[in-house]
Amino acid sequence: MASSPLENLIPLVNKLQDLVFNTIGSDTIDLPQVVVVGSQSSGKSSVLENLVGRDFLPRGSGIVTRRPLVLQLINVSPADVYPHGDSEWGEFLHLPGQRFSDFSLIRGEIENETARIAGMNKGINRLPINLKIYSPHVLNLTLVDLPGLTKIPIGDQPTDIERQIRMLISEYIAKPNSIILAVSPANVDLVNSEGLKLARQVDTSGKRTIGVLTKLDLMDHGTNALEILSGRVYPLKLGFIGVVNRSQYDIQENKSLSEALRAEEEFFQCHPAYRNIAHRCGTQYLAKSLNQTLMSHIREKLPDIKARLNALIGQTQQELNGYGTSQFSGKQHRGSLILHFLTKFANSFIASIDGTSSDIST
Ligand code: GDP
Ligand code: NA
Ligand code: MG
Repeated sequence: MASSPLENLIPLVNKLQDLVFNTIGSDTIDLPQVVVVGSQSSGKSSVLENLVGRDFLPRGSGIVTRRPLVLQLINVSPADVYPHGDSEWGEFLHLPGQRFSDFSLIRGEIENETARIAGMNKGINRLPINLKIYSPHVLNLTLVDLPGLTKIPIGDQPTDIERQIRMLISEYIAKPNSIILAVSPANVDLVNSEGLKLARQVDTSGKRTIGVLTKLDLMDHGTNALEILSGRVYPLKLGFIGVVNRSQYDIQENKSLSEALRAEEEFFQCHPAYRNIAHRCGTQYLAKSLNQTLMSHIREKLPDIKARLNALIGQTQQELNGYGTSQFSGKQHRGSLILHFLTKFANSFIASIDGTSSDIST
């Protein structure tokens, strides 16, 4: 997972988590959870997998994701990990203590566990599968993969399948702390995008929804999505980002993630319609935008952290004053040293996030 696109935020978030944890206490910064919504086979699982930078989700035509997958990425320091052997591994809530270091086995287990609860046919179930991925290359972040919207029941799906899926998705995206990745395939008219319709219901001003346009490679010849990608068709503050994921054929041929990312980059750079906006297209740019959205969330939390740190510094100062000046004890000396470093570290660190640079995540 050496090149996870979200990797550049990791040291920053870790530092901040440490600072908050070691000073204010157990309370840490909760990053928003990222939820993908869209119609069936629009490319939701593919987008998530690209963001994590690792092959492990079941993907394919038709209804593949049939239970919510709550994917918790947990950053571990390499020093904690390597002495035990595996550099990164997954663990399911339903299989406690069992480490999956082979990611293709993770995919198999998701499939088994989906079938165990949601049946072998096309049924869906609202009971989530909880998977934790431990790695030095991930950001502490929760990603949620959801079943896609569908209108017409198939297989053993109940007649009210559409309503059931809608309710399930709404439950996840209603949380104000969620970032919604509304995935729409470029080869279907955007006015029919179920993902955007659902996102709009909970995020009416479009401020926590990122539009993701997949399958740009599958559009009819002579048509393109330039208008949508330029933000002239549908209003979203965070905008629309076009991506090209691996096709079913690529998956069958075991095309690697890195190969796919290279091909995607080439697609945008060589396409006559997208050449000029290639720098704001593709998976890497999506990851960068997501980074920036997470950064602004962290910035929003900073005033509160600052206030609490200042209170703590004031309190420590008072305690020190209480020791009096007559006896210069070791305790007092240690106390003032801690105070000194705490103040210095907190101030410079917070200034580095809070400062004029709006783009330190890149
Ligand atoms: P989900 O049902 O929304 O999770 O969609 P998946 O990620 O499982 O993708 C559904 C199918 O569409 C798979 O066969 C993918 O290979 C294919 N697919 C997804 N995104 C793209 C894309 O950008 N281009 C092409 N050609 N195929 C894609
Ligand atoms: Na699918
Ligand atoms: Mg899926």
